[in-house]
Amino acid sequence: MNQPKRYTITAALPYTNGPIHIGHLAGVYVPADIYARYQRLQGKDVAFICGSDEHGVPITIKAKKEGVSPQDIVDKYHAIIKQSFLDFGISFDNYSRTTAKIHHETASEFFKTLYEKGEFIEEVTEQLYDAEANQFLADRFVIGTCPKCGNEESYGDQCENCGTSHNATDLINPKSAITGATPTLKETKHWFLPLDKHEAFLKEWILVGHKKDWKPNVYGQVKSWIDDGLRPRAVTRDLDWGIPVPVKGGEGKVLYVWFDAPIGYISATKEWAEREGKNWEPYWKDKDTKLLHFIGKDNIVFHCIIFPAMLKAEGSYILPDNVPANEFLNLEGNKLSTSKNWAVWLHEYLQEFPDKQDVLRYALTANAPETKDNDFTWKDFQARNNNELVAIFGNFINRVVVLTNKYYNGIVPKPSELSAIDEETLATLKAFPAVIASSIERYRFREASQELMNLARLGNKYLADEEPWKVIKEDKARVQTIMYVALQIASALAVLSEPFLPFTSNKLNKILNVSSSAVENTWNSISDGQELLPANHQIGKAELLFSKIEDSEVQAQIDKLEANKKANEAASKKVEAQKDEITWDDFSKLDIRVGTILEAEKMPKTKKLLVLKVDTGIDTRTIVSGIAESFSPEEVVGKKVTVLVNLAPRALRGVESQGMILMTEDASGNLVFVNPDENDKVSNGLKIS
Ligand code: 2FM
Ligand code: ZN
Repeated sequence: MNQPKRYTITAALPYTNGPIHIGHLAGVYVPADIYARYQRLQGKDVAFICGSDEHGVPITIKAKKEGVSPQDIVDKYHAIIKQSFLDFGISFDNYSRTTAKIHHETASEFFKTLYEKGEFIEEVTEQLYDAEANQFLADRFVIGTCPKCGNEESYGDQCENCGTSHNATDLINPKSAITGATPTLKETKHWFLPLDKHEAFLKEWILVGHKKDWKPNVYGQVKSWIDDGLRPRAVTRDLDWGIPVPVKGGEGKVLYVWFDAPIGYISATKEWAEREGKNWEPYWKDKDTKLLHFIGKDNIVFHCIIFPAMLKAEGSYILPDNVPANEFLNLEGNKLSTSKNWAVWLHEYLQEFPDKQDVLRYALTANAPETKDNDFTWKDFQARNNNELVAIFGNFINRVVVLTNKYYNGIVPKPSELSAIDEETLATLKAFPAVIASSIERYRFREASQELMNLARLGNKYLADEEPWKVIKEDKARVQTIMYVALQIASALAVLSEPFLPFTSNKLNKILNVSSSAVENTWNSISDGQELLPANHQIGKAELLFSKIEDSEVQAQIDKLEANKKANEAASKKVEAQKDEITWDDFSKLDIRVGTILEAEKMPKTKKLLVLKVDTGIDTRTIVSGIAESFSPEEVVGKKVTVLVNLAPRALRGVESQGMILMTEDASGNLVFVNPDENDKVSNGLKIS
């Protein structure tokens, strides 16, 4: 597309069944925000749109779990999410929600239009039903084996392992997520979007039209689904939480969440336009608008196949120009997981690092999962801050501002004749806006962020080579030129960093005494070689842009993660079911005594076994125990233990074991002794009954 007139930039609507974590940020919101901020700096007309996805089964499940209503759940998380995005500097023009009236109206209208145009198949089919829960099982209410990749935990509408979207009846061995029951089949009427009817158009539009400009991961997934053949998909559900199906026969049914959610982009645009006194339609209907969907890879099928098919069927909308989906971010080597609390939550990060929004933005961008899944580690976060933001960017700015204040009371000096190095440095500076812009335009945000850091490196190198602090002693005029050049680089950094590090850019502008509005449209003037900070301009005092993050701070975060993991494991650990009942006679057959371990040694060539000598009060006997992975021999000598003494002896690795030490496991799965009271009153040989 040549020079779009405006940009409609959408970021996936997050489900309001939990807060935002770093995986969401790295995959969707940080890249989308960089892109939107960049286009605004270019003076473009931008609508950056998002909102809460408040329907669907995940919300209902969460509400059931917490014993509250779905509305309570969405109200709670909508507030947390909206505030955390704001505090993190995600510059949405509108953050709406799908329970808003305008959205219910817009989605209903959209459905009715397709219905009236005959774009749906209305059909009674057999769907999965849980007789115990008295409910049809769609989407996340049913779990089974994915017919495509064999993942045994696929949901009814989508497999999170391979991304395939399917009908619940396609699952192999389905089970109700509500009761665990195997569902039966029951007839019900639904409206289906015949994706097969749109196959030719999708092929032409994506496989031919976007082969070159869509990311290979996105193109590849879409191609594989189209090649597998598309089938009609139900866009209504037998649920009670959602947007009521607005046509005859739809009573008691709601729209499928993936039918209403993407329409949420349109309703949020309408809400924004109304507030701003604008017309929303060109943002969705003018072919000179560039429509972009920023999403994570699990949303590809919905944004590249289903939503475009809906838009095409409706007839008056434009289609996305690109869908720059990212891969997933892992955390410290493990998959991020809301249910396992293995995550860095944005609202918690903001409380713990209240002035470090840009550090997280930078760490997530520099390590973004653009072409493959990537890992976030707290050590990398610390290194990005200490070794790049502090040591390169912050250091350069600090030196420039301190020296300008020291030599010239903060007044930009007048340069004299430029040396070859000055000319070369300024020429290199001029090239940066185009290089960074080109990376952003191609959705390569990692690369763009590294180019930005290279500009700070250029500044550092220039100062290190020109050494104004030495030259000042013999050639004051030369230092004026050096500082003038360095100040131009500092000023360019304030502009070019805005999409990536908006808080820093703002702070730097204040230090340089430049109004933020002057930053707009400056991007390209850097390329033109225009003077950014003229001689005689008064700058402010030095202030640190970034501060070092200590080892103890990141260790505290790692400890917190580990503690969460342990607590979660303990909470989710299932208590074994009680065994069959026994009689008193059965019990009285067990002879359990107090004993003391006198000696212990490892059984040669085994990992698990210790050979123990135990004083049972009756005798001293040998017991072989499988505890070597949890205890060293030294640790157990002298320990009082509980021993089953009349267990029939058996040989383990050639050593006869004459009893059994009673053990259990703690919440983390570590073995612990079932100890008798260790005070002196409990002497060896005492019977436990
Ligand atoms: O995957 C998700 O979190 C969905 N709530 C994304 C919806 S995107 C859009 F279509 F609304
Ligand atoms: Zn699968």
